[in-house]
Amino acid sequence: MIIAIDGPAGSGKSTVAKLVAQRLGFAYLDTGAMYRAVAWRAVQDGLDLSEPLAASALERIRVIAAEEAIDFGYLPGEPVASQVFIGGQDVSVQIRTPEADRAVSPVSADPGVRQALTSQQRNIGRSRDTVMEGRDIGTVVFPDAELKVFLTASAEERAQRRAIQNAARQGTSFSEQEYERILADIQRRDNYDSSREVAPLAAATDSVELDTTGTTIERVVQQIVDLAGQKQGHKQLGQQRGAE
Ligand code: DC
Repeated sequence: MIIAIDGPAGSGKSTVAKLVAQRLGFAYLDTGAMYRAVAWRAVQDGLDLSEPLAASALERIRVIAAEEAIDFGYLPGEPVASQVFIGGQDVSVQIRTPEADRAVSPVSADPGVRQALTSQQRNIGRSRDTVMEGRDIGTVVFPDAELKVFLTASAEERAQRRAIQNAARQGTSFSEQEYERILADIQRRDNYDSSREVAPLAAATDSVELDTTGTTIERVVQQIVDLAGQKQGHKQLGQQRGAE
């Protein structure tokens, strides 16, 4: 079974998707991390990612996406895989920097990169029950996913969550200036992700839309787990009827 969780940056996808996977005993795949890993490698290679991208830069990022192995690993004590490797190098921390935030948009807008990563994502999802999070999982990667969820939240709430998360990660306190920077970045990425030509961020027509503004993570996780239980129930019933 595939559970597709799509939505804009900061809507709570990662936190929710990991908990749902853990609760159901499913694998977890963060497809954004794959785009980030490719972008990070492109920056390391010294590519100029300012738009429009030069043909030579496009060619190189497509080669990276098609040929550099992206792998996931488990951090000690973590029930789902969230460590990210590209070409065998652990880039879990590097792909979350503001530099990677900036580099990932042009990289993820390229059809060649999307095709290469979509194909890897399909292979991973076909191998076992998976909760997959991204922007286009329910629309492009797995249009037949048994359950599709589209998570939303106001841009202000999303920026606030991310500012708190970053401060906790860096051991600093919440800063208004940092919040404003993140809010501007989230709005920029929302525009970018929704207006790009290939696989723009959009809710699949058959997705369940959940607004996480002002609600608890636990409530959202429980809603998805319940929906998954209903879908699984329907599937088993269908299989039983087929066997009768
Ligand atoms: O979810 P995230 O913020 O880590 O995603 C990083 C970038 O990758 C974001 O700008 C959108 C893009 N992305 C995408 O285009 N398609 C996906 N399936 C996942 C992420």
